[in-house]
Amino acid sequence: MPTLLTESPSLAYTPEVAAATRPAWDRLRRVMPEAEWITHAPLVHAIQRLKRERRAVVLAHNYQAPEIFHGVADRVGDSLALAQQARDTDAEVIVLAGVHFMAETAKLMNPDKVVLCPEPEAGCSLAASITAADVRALRQRHPGIPVVAYVNTSVAVKAEVDICCTSGNAVEVVESLGVSRVIFLPDRYLAAHVATQTAVEIVPWTGSCEVHVRFTGEEIEEYRSNYDDLLVVAHPECPPDVLAAADIVGSTARMVELIEAKKPPRVLLITECAMGDNVAAAVPEVEIVRPCNLCPHMRRITLANILAALETLSPRVEIDPAVVAPARRSVERMLAVRPGARRAGP
Ligand code: 13P
Ligand code: SF4
Repeated sequence: MPTLLTESPSLAYTPEVAAATRPAWDRLRRVMPEAEWITHAPLVHAIQRLKRERRAVVLAHNYQAPEIFHGVADRVGDSLALAQQARDTDAEVIVLAGVHFMAETAKLMNPDKVVLCPEPEAGCSLAASITAADVRALRQRHPGIPVVAYVNTSVAVKAEVDICCTSGNAVEVVESLGVSRVIFLPDRYLAAHVATQTAVEIVPWTGSCEVHVRFTGEEIEEYRSNYDDLLVVAHPECPPDVLAAADIVGSTARMVELIEAKKPPRVLLITECAMGDNVAAAVPEVEIVRPCNLCPHMRRITLANILAALETLSPRVEIDPAVVAPARRSVERMLAVRPGARRAGP
């Protein structure tokens, strides 16, 4: 049995490792003490080397820890960008540094490639809130009404619905169907937010994100009373009182774009807080105020399990062949919706 690099004493912080990982450290020094970086750098170096050997690409969600996001990711983004990148990559192996439904989406777009999910137990409270049987029951209760599923769902649920969406394109997807009523699942708060943006009637499900549900409007008002120049940016998975208290509501990608383009002096980021570190490392001119609600599922992905996945080419994402075609169709229909395309009127 070959010795795995993850178990090997060669994972030391040598001058060679320091030189090879310097570009990442130049960003990360803004958000991480050097003593911590010294523990990450040998793993970053080993992952970079193994990626080249395996012809692998690491796709990382905006909520990944800074040492992953800035240290080993080849592409980063929100759920929509990750689905697009998974569709477009020519790498032989895809490592999805994100939660399990994101890795499943990557596999759906690449049934013949090796897709690795470094920790398959990395779940999501939204994906866990609904099953394929629930969708069938909803269809019986609302015959003829199309079903839109947030990508934060299992592949079995995606196979039962008409089209997927992300927080970045939900309104466009709902309006692309050209109907007056849709079932929208599983996030009740994203559903409520979409309902404020369109004349299409939204029939919601009852799921919620265990991270975003913890924010409150009161908390935002308290932050505002401490700073005069605070721009409040919130993710649409937050409850309505939070969104009402925010200046801007958007997906994680929209938040990043806005901060990079406008460089407001101080931003209160109402979302998972590892993203605050990632943005602070990339855009040092902007002060990011970040109440710290971490996603326990995203935190299960580590440099050590990414390295182990590349060494062993496992755990691989495998999908029941019976659901691949219908689930893929739901994701492809979403990807075909033109960004910004909204029908005029109700
Ligand atoms: P985004 O698509 O905005 O990145 O959101 C994904 C997610 O899981 C938010 O909690
Ligand atoms: Fe799921 Fe919420 Fe974690 Fe996003 S932040 S992966 S919606 S539990």
